[in-house]
Amino acid sequence: THVVLEACIRCKYTDCVDVCPVDCFREGPNFLAIDPDECIDCAVCIPECPVGAILPEEDVPADQQNYIALNAELAKGWPSITKRKDPLPDHAEWKDRTGKLGELKR
Ligand code: F3S
Repeated sequence: THVVLEACIRCKYTDCVDVCPVDCFREGPNFLAIDPDECIDCAVCIPECPVGAILPEEDVPADQQNYIALNAELAKGWPSITKRKDPLPDHAEWKDRTGKLGELKR
C-alpha cells in the first residue's frame, strides 16, 4: 500500500485524490488516510502532493513507521474523498513543520 505521512497534517492539499484510480483516499478533519485494502500501489498520487506526503509503505522513514498502522485505522472510520478541494486555511504556515502528530484530529 501507499501511506499518507505527517506532512499532510493541517495542510490537506487534496491534489492526490483527483488522480486515484481506485478512490482509496479517506478524509479526516485535517489529514487524509489511504485505505490499504483499496490502494493498488499505482503511485500516481506521489508527485501530485505539493508537500511530498505520500510514499510507498516500503519507503516510509523509520521515524514515521507509525503512520502505516495509522492510515489503516483512520481510513476505516473516515468517508471517501474523490474530488479536490481547497487546502486548509493555515496550510502555508504548517507545510514545513515537523512533529505534527499531536495536531492530528480524528
Ligand atoms: Fe495531504 Fe498531500 Fe493529499 S497534503 S491531502 S497527501 S495532496
